[in-house]
Amino acid sequence: MKACNYIDGQWREGERPSSIHNPSDLDELVGTYPLSAPSDAEDAIAAARKALPAWSRSNIQVRADILRRAGDALFARATEIGTLLSREEGKTLKEGVGEAQRAAYVFHYYAGEVVRHPGQWYDSLRDGHNIIVSYEPVGVVAAITPWNFPIAVPAWKTAAALAYGNTVVLKPSELTPGCAVLLAEILEQAGLPNGAFNLVLGDGRALGQALIDGADAVTFTGATPTGRNILQLAAPTMTKVQLELGGKNPFIVLDDADLDVAVEAAAQGTWGQTGQRCTGSERIIVTRRIHDAFVERLAKAASAFKVGHALDADTQIGPVANQPQFDKNLRFIAKAKADGAELAAGGGPVEARSRGFYLAPTLFINTTNAMELNREEVFGPVAGVIKVEDLDEAIAVAADCELALSSGIATTSLKNAERYRRASTAGMVMINAPTAGLEYHVPFGGRAPSGFGGREQGAASAEFFTEMKTAYVNHGVI
Ligand code: UN1
Repeated sequence: MKACNYIDGQWREGERPSSIHNPSDLDELVGTYPLSAPSDAEDAIAAARKALPAWSRSNIQVRADILRRAGDALFARATEIGTLLSREEGKTLKEGVGEAQRAAYVFHYYAGEVVRHPGQWYDSLRDGHNIIVSYEPVGVVAAITPWNFPIAVPAWKTAAALAYGNTVVLKPSELTPGCAVLLAEILEQAGLPNGAFNLVLGDGRALGQALIDGADAVTFTGATPTGRNILQLAAPTMTKVQLELGGKNPFIVLDDADLDVAVEAAAQGTWGQTGQRCTGSERIIVTRRIHDAFVERLAKAASAFKVGHALDADTQIGPVANQPQFDKNLRFIAKAKADGAELAAGGGPVEARSRGFYLAPTLFINTTNAMELNREEVFGPVAGVIKVEDLDEAIAVAADCELALSSGIATTSLKNAERYRRASTAGMVMINAPTAGLEYHVPFGGRAPSGFGGREQGAASAEFFTEMKTAYVNHGVI
Protein backbone atom coordinates (compact mmCIF):
# COMPACT_ATOMS: atom_id res chain seq x y z
CA MET A 1 0.00 0.00 0.00
CA LYS A 2 1.41 3.36 -1.05
CA ALA A 3 1.36 6.31 1.36
CA CYS A 4 -1.48 8.17 -0.36
CA ASN A 5 -3.03 10.42 2.25
CA TYR A 6 -1.61 13.90 1.85
CA ILE A 7 -1.77 15.80 5.13
CA ASP A 8 0.12 18.99 5.97
CA GLY A 9 2.46 18.45 3.04
CA GLN A 10 3.33 14.88 4.07
CA TRP A 11 2.38 11.62 2.34
CA ARG A 12 0.95 9.24 4.93
CA GLU A 13 -0.31 5.69 5.04
CA GLY A 14 -3.85 4.80 6.05
CA GLU A 15 -5.39 2.26 8.36
CA ARG A 16 -5.85 -0.66 5.96
CA PRO A 17 -5.54 -1.33 2.25
CA SER A 18 -8.26 -1.46 -0.38
CA SER A 19 -7.73 -2.91 -3.85
CA ILE A 20 -9.19 -1.24 -6.91
CA HIS A 21 -9.88 -3.44 -9.95
CA ASN A 22 -10.47 -2.31 -13.51
CA PRO A 23 -14.20 -2.47 -14.42
CA SER A 24 -13.10 -3.20 -18.02
CA ASP A 25 -11.00 -6.14 -16.85
CA LEU A 26 -11.77 -7.50 -13.40
CA ASP A 27 -8.55 -9.52 -13.41
CA GLU A 28 -6.47 -6.34 -13.53
CA LEU A 29 -5.49 -4.66 -10.29
CA VAL A 30 -5.35 -0.88 -10.79
CA GLY A 31 -3.86 -0.13 -7.39
CA THR A 32 -3.98 -0.58 -3.67
CA TYR A 33 -4.93 2.52 -1.74
CA PRO A 34 -5.47 3.17 1.95
CA LEU A 35 -8.75 3.32 3.77
CA SER A 36 -8.07 5.85 6.48
CA ALA A 37 -9.20 6.26 10.05
CA PRO A 38 -11.25 9.17 11.42
CA SER A 39 -8.05 10.35 13.16
CA ASP A 40 -6.50 10.92 9.70
CA ALA A 41 -9.47 13.11 8.77
CA GLU A 42 -9.06 15.01 12.04
CA ASP A 43 -5.35 15.54 11.32
CA ALA A 44 -6.18 16.79 7.83
CA ILE A 45 -8.73 19.25 9.21
CA ALA A 46 -6.18 20.46 11.79
CA ALA A 47 -3.59 20.97 9.04
CA ALA A 48 -6.09 22.92 6.93
CA ARG A 49 -6.99 25.06 9.94
CA LYS A 50 -3.32 25.81 10.64
CA ALA A 51 -2.73 26.81 7.01
CA LEU A 52 -5.86 28.98 6.78
CA PRO A 53 -4.62 32.37 8.10
CA ALA A 54 -1.65 32.53 5.73
CA TRP A 55 -3.50 31.16 2.67
CA SER A 56 -6.58 33.34 3.16
CA ARG A 57 -4.34 36.42 3.24
CA SER A 58 -1.94 35.27 0.55
CA ASN A 59 -1.04 37.59 -2.28
CA ILE A 60 -3.65 37.14 -5.01
CA GLN A 61 -1.07 37.00 -7.81
CA VAL A 62 0.82 34.25 -5.95
CA ARG A 63 -2.45 32.37 -5.43
CA ALA A 64 -3.47 32.79 -9.08
CA ASP A 65 -0.05 31.57 -10.24
CA ILE A 66 -0.31 28.39 -8.17
CA LEU A 67 -3.74 27.56 -9.62
CA ARG A 68 -2.53 28.32 -13.15
CA ARG A 69 0.50 26.04 -12.68
CA ALA A 70 -1.82 23.27 -11.43
CA GLY A 71 -3.91 23.75 -14.59
CA ASP A 72 -0.78 23.59 -16.76
CA ALA A 73 0.24 20.32 -15.11
CA LEU A 74 -3.24 18.85 -15.56
CA PHE A 75 -3.00 19.65 -19.29
CA ALA A 76 0.51 18.24 -19.55
CA ARG A 77 -0.50 15.04 -17.77
CA ALA A 78 -4.01 14.69 -19.28
CA THR A 79 -3.25 11.42 -21.09
CA GLU A 80 -1.71 9.85 -17.98
CA ILE A 81 -4.61 11.00 -15.78
CA GLY A 82 -7.21 10.05 -18.40
CA THR A 83 -5.72 6.57 -18.73
CA LEU A 84 -5.80 6.01 -14.97
CA LEU A 85 -9.35 7.40 -14.87
CA SER A 86 -10.43 4.96 -17.59
CA ARG A 87 -8.81 2.09 -15.71
CA GLU A 88 -10.35 2.87 -12.35
CA GLU A 89 -13.77 4.17 -13.46
CA GLY A 90 -14.36 2.64 -16.89
CA LYS A 91 -14.90 5.81 -18.93
CA THR A 92 -13.57 5.56 -22.49
CA LEU A 93 -10.08 6.98 -22.93
CA LYS A 94 -11.49 9.89 -24.94
CA GLU A 95 -13.91 10.67 -22.09
CA GLY A 96 -11.16 10.19 -19.48
CA VAL A 97 -8.66 12.48 -21.20
CA GLY A 98 -11.46 14.97 -21.87
CA GLU A 99 -12.30 15.00 -18.19
CA ALA A 100 -8.67 15.62 -17.23
CA GLN A 101 -8.56 18.53 -19.68
CA ARG A 102 -11.78 19.88 -18.22
CA ALA A 103 -10.13 19.82 -14.78
CA ALA A 104 -7.23 21.79 -16.28
CA TYR A 105 -9.56 24.43 -17.74
CA VAL A 106 -11.30 24.69 -14.37
CA PHE A 107 -7.99 25.51 -12.64
CA HIS A 108 -7.17 28.11 -15.29
CA TYR A 109 -10.63 29.64 -14.92
CA TYR A 110 -10.25 29.93 -11.15
CA ALA A 111 -6.72 31.28 -11.50
CA GLY A 112 -8.38 34.23 -13.24
CA GLU A 113 -11.20 34.30 -10.69
CA VAL A 114 -8.68 34.96 -7.89
CA VAL A 115 -7.89 38.40 -9.30
CA ARG A 116 -11.38 39.08 -10.70
CA HIS A 117 -13.09 38.39 -7.39
CA PRO A 118 -15.08 41.58 -6.67
CA GLY A 119 -16.39 43.45 -3.66
CA GLN A 120 -18.93 46.29 -3.56
CA TRP A 121 -18.91 49.90 -2.46
CA TYR A 122 -22.08 51.82 -1.56
CA ASP A 123 -22.87 55.39 -0.62
CA SER A 124 -24.32 55.51 2.87
CA LEU A 125 -27.66 57.05 3.83
CA ARG A 126 -25.64 58.99 6.42
CA ASP A 127 -23.46 61.95 5.43
CA GLY A 128 -19.72 61.30 5.77
CA HIS A 129 -20.12 57.49 5.65
CA ASN A 130 -19.75 54.78 3.06
CA ILE A 131 -20.33 51.03 3.04
CA ILE A 132 -17.96 48.33 1.82
CA VAL A 133 -19.16 44.79 1.15
CA SER A 134 -16.36 42.24 0.98
CA TYR A 135 -16.46 38.49 0.35
CA GLU A 136 -14.19 36.59 2.71
CA PRO A 137 -13.18 32.93 2.74
CA VAL A 138 -15.60 30.68 4.59
CA GLY A 139 -12.65 28.81 6.14
CA VAL A 140 -11.77 25.11 6.08
CA VAL A 141 -13.71 23.35 3.32
CA ALA A 142 -14.29 19.60 3.25
CA ALA A 143 -14.96 18.34 -0.29
CA ILE A 144 -16.57 14.92 -0.62
CA THR A 145 -16.62 13.75 -4.22
CA PRO A 146 -18.13 10.88 -6.24
CA TRP A 147 -16.64 8.07 -8.36
CA ASN A 148 -18.26 9.14 -11.66
CA PHE A 149 -16.17 12.29 -12.21
CA PRO A 150 -13.01 11.40 -10.27
CA ILE A 151 -10.89 14.32 -11.53
CA ALA A 152 -13.35 17.02 -12.69
CA VAL A 153 -15.47 17.25 -9.54
CA PRO A 154 -12.47 17.29 -7.15
CA ALA A 155 -10.96 19.94 -9.43
CA TRP A 156 -13.97 22.26 -9.48
CA LYS A 157 -14.52 22.06 -5.75
CA THR A 158 -10.82 22.40 -4.89
CA ALA A 159 -9.96 25.15 -7.39
CA ALA A 160 -12.95 27.28 -6.36
CA ALA A 161 -12.29 26.80 -2.64
CA LEU A 162 -8.60 27.71 -2.98
CA ALA A 163 -9.27 30.64 -5.31
CA TYR A 164 -11.49 32.33 -2.74
CA GLY A 165 -8.89 31.83 -0.01
CA ASN A 166 -10.15 28.69 1.73
CA THR A 167 -8.10 25.66 2.70
CA VAL A 168 -9.29 22.21 1.67
CA VAL A 169 -9.61 18.61 2.80
CA LEU A 170 -10.62 16.43 -0.14
CA LYS A 171 -12.16 13.01 0.38
CA PRO A 172 -12.77 11.35 -2.98
CA SER A 173 -14.85 8.22 -3.46
CA GLU A 174 -13.06 5.16 -2.09
CA LEU A 175 -13.84 3.51 -5.45
CA THR A 176 -11.74 5.99 -7.51
CA PRO A 177 -8.91 7.32 -5.33
CA GLY A 178 -6.15 7.30 -7.97
CA CYS A 179 -7.05 10.52 -9.80
CA ALA A 180 -7.30 12.45 -6.54
CA VAL A 181 -3.81 11.26 -5.56
CA LEU A 182 -2.50 12.67 -8.87
CA LEU A 183 -4.31 15.94 -8.16
CA ALA A 184 -2.62 16.16 -4.73
CA GLU A 185 0.75 15.51 -6.38
CA ILE A 186 0.07 18.27 -8.92
CA LEU A 187 -0.95 20.78 -6.24
CA GLU A 188 2.15 19.95 -4.20
CA GLN A 189 4.36 20.54 -7.25
CA ALA A 190 2.49 23.74 -8.15
CA GLY A 191 3.82 25.26 -4.94
CA LEU A 192 0.78 25.19 -2.68
CA PRO A 193 1.86 25.73 0.94
CA ASN A 194 1.63 22.80 3.34
CA GLY A 195 -1.85 22.22 4.72
CA ALA A 196 -3.68 24.41 2.17
CA PHE A 197 -4.79 21.25 0.40
CA ASN A 198 -5.09 17.87 2.12
CA LEU A 199 -6.27 14.50 0.89
CA VAL A 200 -7.78 11.66 2.91
CA LEU A 201 -8.83 8.42 1.28
CA GLY A 202 -11.57 6.19 2.56
CA ASP A 203 -15.22 5.56 3.09
CA GLY A 204 -17.57 8.46 3.81
CA ARG A 205 -19.33 6.45 6.50
CA ALA A 206 -16.02 6.29 8.41
CA LEU A 207 -14.64 9.75 7.69
CA GLY A 208 -17.69 11.93 7.02
CA GLN A 209 -18.54 12.81 10.59
CA ALA A 210 -15.00 13.99 11.44
CA LEU A 211 -14.91 16.11 8.28
CA ILE A 212 -18.33 17.66 8.86
CA ASP A 213 -17.61 18.36 12.53
CA GLY A 214 -14.20 19.92 11.89
CA ALA A 215 -14.79 21.91 8.70
CA ASP A 216 -16.49 25.29 8.34
CA ALA A 217 -18.16 24.17 5.13
CA VAL A 218 -18.74 20.86 3.37
CA THR A 219 -19.38 20.51 -0.35
CA PHE A 220 -20.70 17.15 -1.50
CA THR A 221 -21.60 15.61 -4.85
CA GLY A 222 -23.40 12.28 -4.82
CA ALA A 223 -26.70 10.56 -4.20
CA THR A 224 -29.69 12.37 -2.68
CA PRO A 225 -30.08 10.04 0.37
CA THR A 226 -26.41 10.61 1.30
CA GLY A 227 -26.94 14.37 0.87
CA ARG A 228 -29.88 14.31 3.28
CA ASN A 229 -27.71 12.42 5.75
CA ILE A 230 -24.91 15.00 5.47
CA LEU A 231 -27.38 17.81 6.09
CA GLN A 232 -28.53 16.11 9.26
CA LEU A 233 -24.97 15.43 10.44
CA ALA A 234 -24.12 19.09 9.83
CA ALA A 235 -27.04 20.47 11.85
CA PRO A 236 -25.49 20.34 15.36
CA THR A 237 -22.36 22.27 14.29
CA MET A 238 -24.26 24.33 11.64
CA THR A 239 -21.47 23.56 9.19
CA LYS A 240 -22.29 25.30 5.90
CA VAL A 241 -23.46 22.68 3.38
CA GLN A 242 -23.51 22.55 -0.41
CA LEU A 243 -25.09 19.48 -2.00
CA GLU A 244 -25.09 18.46 -5.67
CA LEU A 245 -27.35 15.42 -5.81
CA GLY A 246 -29.34 13.15 -8.08
CA GLY A 247 -31.19 13.79 -11.30
CA LYS A 248 -34.08 12.14 -13.15
CA ASN A 249 -33.64 14.43 -16.08
CA PRO A 250 -36.36 14.67 -18.72
CA PHE A 251 -35.55 15.13 -22.40
CA ILE A 252 -38.61 16.20 -24.42
CA VAL A 253 -38.93 15.62 -28.16
CA LEU A 254 -41.69 17.57 -29.88
CA ASP A 255 -43.39 16.87 -33.21
CA ASP A 256 -41.58 19.88 -34.72
CA ALA A 257 -38.09 18.64 -33.70
CA ASP A 258 -35.24 18.19 -36.15
CA LEU A 259 -34.94 14.39 -35.95
CA ASP A 260 -31.16 14.32 -36.43
CA VAL A 261 -30.61 16.85 -33.64
CA ALA A 262 -33.11 15.12 -31.33
CA VAL A 263 -31.64 11.64 -31.80
CA GLU A 264 -28.05 12.84 -31.35
CA ALA A 265 -28.84 14.84 -28.20
CA ALA A 266 -30.95 12.04 -26.67
CA ALA A 267 -28.35 9.36 -27.45
CA GLN A 268 -25.45 11.39 -26.05
CA GLY A 269 -27.40 12.51 -23.01
CA THR A 270 -28.62 9.02 -22.23
CA TRP A 271 -25.68 6.73 -22.95
CA GLY A 272 -22.62 9.00 -23.00
CA GLN A 273 -20.24 8.12 -20.16
CA THR A 274 -22.27 4.90 -19.79
CA GLY A 275 -25.18 6.95 -18.44
CA GLN A 276 -23.34 7.54 -15.18
CA ARG A 277 -23.94 11.26 -14.83
CA CYS A 278 -26.31 13.09 -12.53
CA THR A 279 -27.13 15.14 -15.63
CA GLY A 280 -27.90 12.12 -17.85
CA SER A 281 -31.25 11.91 -19.69
CA GLU A 282 -33.30 9.36 -17.79
CA ARG A 283 -36.82 10.08 -19.07
CA ILE A 284 -37.37 10.64 -22.77
CA ILE A 285 -40.74 12.28 -23.28
CA VAL A 286 -41.94 12.20 -26.90
CA THR A 287 -45.07 13.61 -28.51
CA ARG A 288 -47.33 11.19 -30.37
CA ARG A 289 -46.83 12.14 -34.00
CA ILE A 290 -43.03 11.94 -33.99
CA HIS A 291 -42.90 9.05 -31.50
CA ASP A 292 -42.52 6.02 -33.79
CA ALA A 293 -40.00 7.63 -36.16
CA PHE A 294 -37.92 9.00 -33.28
CA VAL A 295 -37.94 5.77 -31.28
CA GLU A 296 -36.89 3.72 -34.29
CA ARG A 297 -33.91 6.04 -34.88
CA LEU A 298 -32.96 6.21 -31.19
CA ALA A 299 -33.10 2.43 -30.75
CA LYS A 300 -30.83 2.08 -33.82
CA ALA A 301 -28.40 4.60 -32.31
CA ALA A 302 -28.38 2.66 -29.03
CA SER A 303 -27.65 -0.64 -30.76
CA ALA A 304 -24.94 0.93 -32.94
CA PHE A 305 -22.78 2.02 -29.98
CA LYS A 306 -19.65 -0.10 -29.61
CA VAL A 307 -19.47 -1.25 -25.99
CA GLY A 308 -16.06 -2.44 -24.89
CA HIS A 309 -12.85 -2.11 -22.92
CA ALA A 310 -12.43 1.52 -21.95
CA LEU A 311 -8.92 1.73 -23.40
CA ASP A 312 -9.73 0.24 -26.83
CA ALA A 313 -9.65 2.89 -29.54
CA ASP A 314 -13.00 1.91 -31.09
CA THR A 315 -14.94 1.74 -27.81
CA GLN A 316 -17.76 4.27 -27.55
CA ILE A 317 -19.35 3.10 -24.30
CA GLY A 318 -17.21 1.78 -21.48
CA PRO A 319 -18.33 -0.66 -18.79
CA VAL A 320 -20.47 0.18 -15.80
CA ALA A 321 -18.11 1.38 -13.07
CA ASN A 322 -18.59 -1.22 -10.36
CA GLN A 323 -20.49 -4.32 -9.25
CA PRO A 324 -23.18 -2.60 -7.12
CA GLN A 325 -24.01 -0.27 -10.03
CA PHE A 326 -24.06 -3.16 -12.49
CA ASP A 327 -26.46 -5.13 -10.26
CA LYS A 328 -28.62 -2.03 -9.78
CA ASN A 329 -28.94 -1.54 -13.55
CA LEU A 330 -30.00 -5.16 -13.99
CA ARG A 331 -32.59 -4.79 -11.23
CA PHE A 332 -34.09 -1.74 -12.99
CA ILE A 333 -34.22 -3.64 -16.28
CA ALA A 334 -35.99 -6.61 -14.65
CA LYS A 335 -38.46 -4.36 -12.85
CA ALA A 336 -39.25 -2.36 -16.01
CA LYS A 337 -40.02 -5.59 -17.86
CA ALA A 338 -42.20 -6.80 -14.99
CA ASP A 339 -44.04 -3.47 -15.02
CA GLY A 340 -44.92 -3.97 -18.69
CA ALA A 341 -42.32 -1.76 -20.43
CA GLU A 342 -41.24 -2.98 -23.86
CA LEU A 343 -37.58 -3.36 -24.76
CA ALA A 344 -36.52 -1.42 -27.88
CA ALA A 345 -32.71 -1.82 -27.50
CA GLY A 346 -30.21 -3.61 -25.28
CA GLY A 347 -31.57 -5.16 -22.12
CA GLY A 348 -28.65 -7.05 -20.64
CA PRO A 349 -24.92 -7.72 -20.32
CA VAL A 350 -22.71 -7.96 -23.41
CA GLU A 351 -19.44 -9.79 -24.00
CA ALA A 352 -16.16 -7.98 -24.63
CA ARG A 353 -12.52 -9.08 -24.89
CA SER A 354 -12.13 -9.13 -21.11
CA ARG A 355 -14.25 -9.88 -18.05
CA GLY A 356 -15.96 -6.61 -17.07
CA PHE A 357 -19.24 -4.93 -16.21
CA TYR A 358 -20.43 -4.55 -19.81
CA LEU A 359 -24.05 -3.59 -20.31
CA ALA A 360 -25.78 -2.88 -23.62
CA PRO A 361 -27.23 0.65 -24.00
CA THR A 362 -30.82 -0.06 -23.08
CA LEU A 363 -34.03 1.64 -24.20
CA PHE A 364 -37.55 0.85 -23.06
CA ILE A 365 -40.69 2.09 -24.78
CA ASN A 366 -44.33 2.07 -23.68
CA THR A 367 -43.31 3.23 -20.24
CA THR A 368 -45.32 5.47 -17.95
CA ASN A 369 -44.03 8.12 -15.59
CA ALA A 370 -45.42 6.05 -12.70
CA MET A 371 -43.06 3.11 -13.34
CA GLU A 372 -40.06 2.73 -11.04
CA LEU A 373 -37.80 3.05 -14.11
CA ASN A 374 -39.02 6.63 -14.46
CA ARG A 375 -39.23 7.54 -10.78
CA GLU A 376 -35.88 6.47 -9.28
CA GLU A 377 -32.45 7.60 -10.49
CA VAL A 378 -30.91 4.69 -12.45
CA PHE A 379 -27.48 6.26 -13.00
CA GLY A 380 -26.65 3.86 -15.81
CA PRO A 381 -27.16 3.23 -19.53
CA VAL A 382 -30.87 2.50 -19.16
CA ALA A 383 -33.77 4.84 -20.01
CA GLY A 384 -37.44 4.77 -20.90
CA VAL A 385 -39.59 6.60 -23.45
CA ILE A 386 -42.91 8.10 -22.34
CA LYS A 387 -45.40 8.95 -25.11
CA VAL A 388 -47.41 12.16 -24.60
CA GLU A 389 -49.95 14.12 -26.64
CA ASP A 390 -48.42 17.60 -26.74
CA LEU A 391 -46.12 20.14 -25.07
CA ASP A 392 -48.60 20.73 -22.22
CA GLU A 393 -48.59 17.07 -21.28
CA ALA A 394 -44.80 16.90 -21.76
CA ILE A 395 -44.32 19.81 -19.33
CA ALA A 396 -46.62 18.15 -16.78
CA VAL A 397 -44.84 14.78 -17.03
CA ALA A 398 -41.38 16.41 -16.84
CA ALA A 399 -42.40 18.27 -13.68
CA ASP A 400 -43.98 15.20 -12.07
CA CYS A 401 -40.76 14.21 -10.33
CA GLU A 402 -39.07 15.12 -7.07
CA LEU A 403 -35.65 15.63 -8.65
CA ALA A 404 -34.99 18.78 -10.70
CA LEU A 405 -31.41 19.02 -11.88
CA SER A 406 -31.19 19.19 -15.67
CA SER A 407 -33.75 19.00 -18.48
CA GLY A 408 -33.87 19.28 -22.22
CA ILE A 409 -36.11 19.81 -25.21
CA ALA A 410 -35.77 19.20 -28.94
CA THR A 411 -37.88 21.57 -31.01
CA THR A 412 -37.49 23.90 -34.00
CA SER A 413 -40.05 26.31 -32.57
CA LEU A 414 -38.58 29.25 -30.66
CA LYS A 415 -41.95 29.69 -28.98
CA ASN A 416 -42.08 26.09 -27.73
CA ALA A 417 -38.46 26.28 -26.56
CA GLU A 418 -39.14 29.48 -24.65
CA ARG A 419 -42.32 28.05 -23.14
CA TYR A 420 -40.35 25.09 -21.85
CA ARG A 421 -37.43 27.18 -20.63
CA ARG A 422 -39.89 29.10 -18.45
CA ALA A 423 -41.96 26.09 -17.34
CA SER A 424 -39.11 23.74 -16.43
CA THR A 425 -38.58 23.22 -12.71
CA ALA A 426 -34.97 22.12 -13.25
CA GLY A 427 -31.83 24.13 -12.50
CA MET A 428 -30.58 23.69 -16.06
CA VAL A 429 -32.50 23.68 -19.37
CA MET A 430 -30.93 22.54 -22.62
CA ILE A 431 -32.51 23.54 -25.93
CA ASN A 432 -31.65 21.12 -28.76
CA ALA A 433 -28.69 19.90 -26.71
CA PRO A 434 -28.05 16.94 -24.37
CA THR A 435 -29.05 17.29 -20.71
CA ALA A 436 -25.45 16.45 -19.77
CA GLY A 437 -22.13 18.07 -20.67
CA LEU A 438 -21.69 21.30 -18.80
CA GLU A 439 -19.39 24.28 -18.98
CA TYR A 440 -17.18 25.49 -16.15
CA HIS A 441 -17.85 29.24 -16.37
CA VAL A 442 -21.60 29.22 -15.65
CA PRO A 443 -23.67 28.12 -12.64
CA PHE A 444 -24.25 24.39 -12.24
CA GLY A 445 -26.91 22.79 -10.04
CA GLY A 446 -30.55 22.09 -9.40
CA ARG A 447 -33.34 22.69 -6.94
CA ALA A 448 -33.79 20.55 -3.85
CA PRO A 449 -33.72 17.63 -3.60
CA SER A 450 -31.32 17.70 -6.58
CA GLY A 451 -29.26 20.48 -5.07
CA PHE A 452 -28.94 22.55 -1.95
CA GLY A 453 -26.81 25.40 -0.69
CA GLY A 454 -25.81 27.43 -3.72
CA ARG A 455 -24.61 26.66 -7.23
CA GLU A 456 -21.20 25.32 -8.17
CA GLN A 457 -18.87 26.56 -10.93
CA GLY A 458 -18.40 29.94 -12.52
CA ALA A 459 -18.45 33.04 -10.35
CA ALA A 460 -21.71 31.76 -8.78
CA SER A 461 -19.61 29.38 -6.68
CA ALA A 462 -18.46 32.38 -4.59
CA GLU A 463 -21.85 32.29 -2.88
CA PHE A 464 -20.91 29.07 -1.11
CA PHE A 465 -17.14 29.49 -0.83
CA THR A 466 -17.25 32.98 0.73
CA GLU A 467 -18.99 34.84 3.54
CA MET A 468 -20.14 38.43 3.12
CA LYS A 469 -18.95 41.21 5.36
CA THR A 470 -20.69 44.63 5.37
CA ALA A 471 -18.52 47.41 6.77
CA TYR A 472 -19.94 50.87 7.62
CA VAL A 473 -17.21 53.48 7.51
CA ASN A 474 -17.52 56.91 9.09
CA HIS A 475 -14.74 58.67 7.20
CA GLY A 476 -16.01 62.16 8.01
CA VAL A 477 -15.49 63.57 4.50
CA ILE A 478 -18.59 65.48 3.42
C1 UN1 B 1 -21.67 16.99 -16.88
O1 UN1 B 1 -22.76 16.50 -17.22
O2 UN1 B 1 -20.92 17.52 -17.72
O3 UN1 B 1 -21.75 14.03 -10.84
C2 UN1 B 1 -21.19 17.05 -15.48
C3 UN1 B 1 -22.24 14.47 -11.87
C4 UN1 B 1 -22.29 15.95 -12.04
C5 UN1 B 1 -21.44 16.47 -13.12
C6 UN1 B 1 -22.06 16.43 -14.46
N1 UN1 B 1 -21.91 16.59 -10.79
O4 UN1 B 1 -22.65 13.69 -12.72
